[in-house]
Amino acid sequence: MHGDNTSPSLSPSSPADRRLSALVRHLEGSSLNVCDSGSRSIAASPTSGSLSSVFDHLVRAPEDPILGVTVAYNKDPSPVKLNLGVGAYRTEVILYVLGLLHDQVKILYQCEFFSLILYVDIGRKPLVLNVVRRAEQMLVNDSSRVKEYLPIVGLSDFNKLSAKLILGADSPAVQENRVTTVQCLSGTGSLRVGAEFLARHYHQRTIYIPQPTWGNHPKVFSLAGLSVKTYRYYDPATRGLNFKGAIVLLHACAHNPTGVDPTLHQWEQIRQLMRSKALLPFFDSAYQMHSRLGFRKRWGECLVAQSYAKNMGLYGERVGALSIVCRSADVASRVESQLKLVIRPMYSNPPIHGASIVATILKDRSMFQEWTIELKAMADRIISMRQQLLMLYVVEYLQPLNHRALWSKVKCYHMQYVGSNLVKASGGANVGTPGDWSHIIKQIGMFTFTGLNSKQVAFMTKEYHIYMTSDGRISMAGLSLRTLPHLADAIHAAVTRVA
Ligand SMILES: Cc1ncc(COP(=O)(O)O)c(C=O)c1O
Repeated sequence: MHGDNTSPSLSPSSPADRRLSALVRHLEGSSLNVCDSGSRSIAASPTSGSLSSVFDHLVRAPEDPILGVTVAYNKDPSPVKLNLGVGAYRTEVILYVLGLLHDQVKILYQCEFFSLILYVDIGRKPLVLNVVRRAEQMLVNDSSRVKEYLPIVGLSDFNKLSAKLILGADSPAVQENRVTTVQCLSGTGSLRVGAEFLARHYHQRTIYIPQPTWGNHPKVFSLAGLSVKTYRYYDPATRGLNFKGAIVLLHACAHNPTGVDPTLHQWEQIRQLMRSKALLPFFDSAYQMHSRLGFRKRWGECLVAQSYAKNMGLYGERVGALSIVCRSADVASRVESQLKLVIRPMYSNPPIHGASIVATILKDRSMFQEWTIELKAMADRIISMRQQLLMLYVVEYLQPLNHRALWSKVKCYHMQYVGSNLVKASGGANVGTPGDWSHIIKQIGMFTFTGLNSKQVAFMTKEYHIYMTSDGRISMAGLSLRTLPHLADAIHAAVTRVA
C-alpha cells in the first residue's frame, strides 16, 4: 500500500494517478472531444458578458449502447414497436380456453381438440413480486422503523443473509467469519466497489473479462483503475462455450449476453485451472436463481458481486452486495475496513429501503419460499417464450397449411401446437428459417444471443420497429405471446433478406 488513503499522492504509480490516467484513456477512446492539456483548463473561459456557456465546448456524448436502445424505442411512434433491449421482466395475463375441433378441421390438423391462448395485454408493466409488496407493507406498518443513515457497509442483516444466499449457509467461509460483505448499489455498484478495492490493494491490476460480456463491464473496471483484457468465452460457430483461455471475471450464472454457461464439469476445470495459476476469481452474480449457480465451494479467496434487480424485481431500488471471501476472519475484517475507505467518498452509505425489503424476505421462511415460487414462475415463462419462439420458426413458414389466414386471431396457440409436432419430427432443427435455431432453447437466463448481425438488427429496427442491442441479443423476458409472431416474422425476414 502506498501512502495515506485519505489523501493519495499523485506520484505516477499512485492509485489516484492510475485512476486519472484510466479516465483520460477512456475519454480519449470515446468520441468525446477532450482538448490537449495545453488548451484545457477547468475554468473554461467563462466569457463574462457574452451569452456563450462555459460548457459550449462539450460535444454530445453517445447514448449508452444498452440503455440507449430504450431511448430510441421511446421515441418510436409505431404501435407494433417492441423493446427487447433491456433485461427486465414484463407481465402478461393469459387465459386458456379448451374446446373440441370441428370434424373437417380435425382431419386437417390431425388432432381432436384445441386450446386457445387469449392474452390480455395490460400495459406490459415490469412485474412487482407479491412477496415484495408484502414485505414493503410490513415495513410501512412498522412504526418503529426510522430513516436514519445506514452504516457505510449497509444493513447488517442484509449483508449476512446475502452472503448466505450466494455462498450457501453451510459454507465454511461463512461459518468461520471469513467473508466480508458490504451493501452496494445493485450489481453495478458492487462491481465498481470491488474493482476500486482491487485497484488499490491487489498486487495485479489486470482483469480478464469474457468476450463477449455485459457492455458495462469494461467501463466499470477501467474507470476504477484496472487494465482490462479479454478472454474468449463464446464460440460463434457452435453458439456455445469456447472452453479455452485465461479467466478472472466470471458470470456466476446465466451469462449475459450469450445465455451460455459452463457445465458443472467445465466449472470444475475452470476452478482447477484458476487455482493452479493462482488467479483471483471475481464472480458477477446478476441473475442468481435464474439458472443453477456454477460456483459455490472451494474457490479459495474470491469476490462476488450480487444484484437483486433481476431475481427480486428490485431494479430501481438499486440493491446489491459485494462479498469478499478471505483466508481468515482477521483478513476479512481488515478488508472490510479498507472497503469503507472506498465507499465513504463514493456515496457515504447505501440506501435503506431496498435492502430492508430483501432482508425481510430472506429471513422469513415462508416469504423466502414465496419468493422462490414467484421466481420460478418468471423463469418458466421465459423458458416457454424460448420454446414458443422456436416453434414459431418451425411452423410459420411451413406450407401448405394456410394457418395464418385461418387462425389469424389465435395463431400463437395454433403454431405452438403444430410446431411441437414438427420439432419432434425434425429433431429440433428449424425447417423454416434457414439455419439451426435450436440454441434458442439451449441458452438459459433472460437473454437469447440470436447470432443476428448488426445489419440484420438494424433492418429489424427499421422495418419491424424491434429494438435490441446491436450484437443481436434479445431479452426473452420482454416478449409475450402477442409479440412473438411479430418477432418471428422479423427474424425470418432479416435472415432471408439481409446478409
Ligand atoms: C452481467 C451483469 N452484471 C451486472 C449487471 C448490473 O445490474 P444492476 O446494476 O442493475 O444490478 C447486469 C445488468 O444487466 C448484468 O447483466
